[in-house]
Amino acid sequence: MSRALEGVKILDMTHVQSGPTCTQLLAWFGADCIKVERPGVGDATRGQLQDIPDVDSLYFTMLNSNKRSLTLNTKSDEGKAIFTKLIEHCDVMVENFAPGALDRMGFTWERIQEINPRMIYASVKGFGPGPYEDCKVYENVAQCTGGSASTTGEIGSVPLVTGAQIGDSGTGLHLALGIVTALYQRNQSGKGQRVSCAMQDGVLNLCRVKLRDQQRLAHGPLTEYPQYPNGEFGEAAPRAGNASGGGQPGWIVKCKGWEADPDAYIYVITQAAAFAGLAKAIGREDWLEDPEWNTPAARLPRLEEMFNEIEKWTMTKNKFEVMDILNPLNVPCGPILSMKELAEEPSLRETGTIVEVDHPERGKYLTIGNPIKLSDSPADVVRSPLLGEHTDEILHEIGLSDDDIANSKSAGAV
Ligand SMILES: CC(C)(COP(=O)(O)OP(=O)(O)OC[C@H]1O[C@@H](n2cnc3c(N)ncnc32)[C@H](O)[C@@H]1OP(=O)(O)O)[C@@H](O)C(=O)NCCC(=O)NCCS
Repeated sequence: MSRALEGVKILDMTHVQSGPTCTQLLAWFGADCIKVERPGVGDATRGQLQDIPDVDSLYFTMLNSNKRSLTLNTKSDEGKAIFTKLIEHCDVMVENFAPGALDRMGFTWERIQEINPRMIYASVKGFGPGPYEDCKVYENVAQCTGGSASTTGEIGSVPLVTGAQIGDSGTGLHLALGIVTALYQRNQSGKGQRVSCAMQDGVLNLCRVKLRDQQRLAHGPLTEYPQYPNGEFGEAAPRAGNASGGGQPGWIVKCKGWEADPDAYIYVITQAAAFAGLAKAIGREDWLEDPEWNTPAARLPRLEEMFNEIEKWTMTKNKFEVMDILNPLNVPCGPILSMKELAEEPSLRETGTIVEVDHPERGKYLTIGNPIKLSDSPADVVRSPLLGEHTDEILHEIGLSDDDIANSKSAGAV
């Protein structure tokens, strides 16, 4: 079976997380992803958080599946000549250097268009045009500047960053959509174009319900927030602990074993349509006849009390037992799954969402497979490349002879 992006050639100048997430997605869909890395150094993440000395880190191996690695010094004259050939050869260039790095190498968007007018040039930067456009940005900076941190955390406590890498992986995902969209448009226009994603914008896009709440605040208190009705609302959408972001109240409650197990909790959503079943299950049928409890509006001022009652019941069962009882009653709920539980979950292995791969230096490791499933395009995961593993192969493909390659090597360009 062929793969959706087979034949698309990606010149992958990405490093760290945001860019590599994007190109890994394209590679899973079958694009030929040529990762260009600095000779002898490579993507900095190869050496970061190493769990085994001198072996590519999991940080690197889990973000660079299905790619080929070419080492190239794009600042040397020989390297620039090879880089020019690569621009001619490829369909898409992806980079997430600090602002201006490619311009400083001499490869401005104007120059790239001269070399290959069909080239799609895609970039991740921390910020779009504006006061911060020159800043270097990492994940947590984006979470803080994109509205996530100010709206995440306990009420009355410090802003919190989330474990989900919404700045890096989230922006990589946005960029991948921009690239396939530009490829689609190129089918008609015959021309490439620039695709830019700012991490601040990507995070804000993922936090849109909080911008919704910011505007609702002008018309009265946010009744589904725990601050209602007794707490204070300020001028900005506040942190809301674990309250549900939608119109259906939800909270995290303890389950049996919580004293020893930090993940013995479950999220329960008290959706109106399923409330009767939930009340019966926890032994509070009396709520159903009581006008102080039996409508969503009546319950709003007593959500804390309601979740305390639900918790008294969930604490008598483990999180999976709670799930087994509440799911048939159509009560939306989700156990807090640890990374250990997820790593061991058989259904995620069966769907290829978690995959075990073999690496020549590190041996077997787990990685995330393609979470986007296409019925007609298999997405097998291939281990990440060693630094420069495919240098000769790729240089041959773009027309260099054995002598050319030997010369480039002795000049230190590759
Ligand atoms: C992530 C980030 C903060 C890292 O910064 P950094 O480690 O200082 O790395 P830079 O991107 O500045 O690149 C360092 C230098 O290596 C050079 N370089 C990279 N690959 C090279 C190669 N193959 N050959 C020669 N030089 C190379 C760059 O040209 C740059 O040189 P310059 O500073 O002289 O222009 C920065 O790249 C950034 O802000 N990127 C955009 C936002 C982003 O993606 N952030 C999330 C990362 S997960």
